[in-house]
Amino acid sequence: MKSTCKFCWLISLVLAVALGLGVYKVVVVGSVAPYADGRVSVLLLPNERNKVLAEMRGLLESVQAVTEAAVAGDMAAIETTARAVGMAAAEAESPAMMSKLPLEFKTLGLATHKAFDDLADLAAGGAEPMAVIANLSQVMLNCTACHQGYRLGVVGENDE
Ligand code: HEC
Repeated sequence: MKSTCKFCWLISLVLAVALGLGVYKVVVVGSVAPYADGRVSVLLLPNERNKVLAEMRGLLESVQAVTEAAVAGDMAAIETTARAVGMAAAEAESPAMMSKLPLEFKTLGLATHKAFDDLADLAAGGAEPMAVIANLSQVMLNCTACHQGYRLGVVGENDE
């Protein structure tokens, strides 16, 4: 049954391409739209956007607390603060929301959480306060890079 098999191959090919495009959309592209000021909008549900923004405010609080602790020479406080926004904090993200984030956004976000774990290790390893500040300034290049490229929008806002 040569012709049936050709048909099977065709169906398989179509399915493979569809699957590939689906994976590409979910893993690489995400749910995005261009925005008037040149940044890319990541389009989320209102509650997802609120959750990410709350996490962001938490990151800013961590940066403030690490700076304050470094000035005071309190390395234990730096370790605790940085660890709280390390990779453990990233594990709570919902897969549904992760699928809406572009690959670069996910990469920068995870790199930032990982960098806070490294900062905690640095503080725990007896680093000097200035070395912590120097490391933090490098971590913050992730904040500024992501903020330069992206904003958070709500699904449907660009359809109006
Ligand atoms: C992976 C991308 C990414 C990284 C990394 C990132 N941010 Fe953000 N952040 C965003 C986006 C997107 C917004 C929303 C901006 C908008 O919609 O205009 C935001 C918003 C914020 C806000 C505003 C919150 C609010 O309630 O409006 C703060 C504060 C903030 N980020 C702090 C930080 C700090 C501090 C870091 C680094 C330690 C950081 N962010 C790292 C993407 C990121």
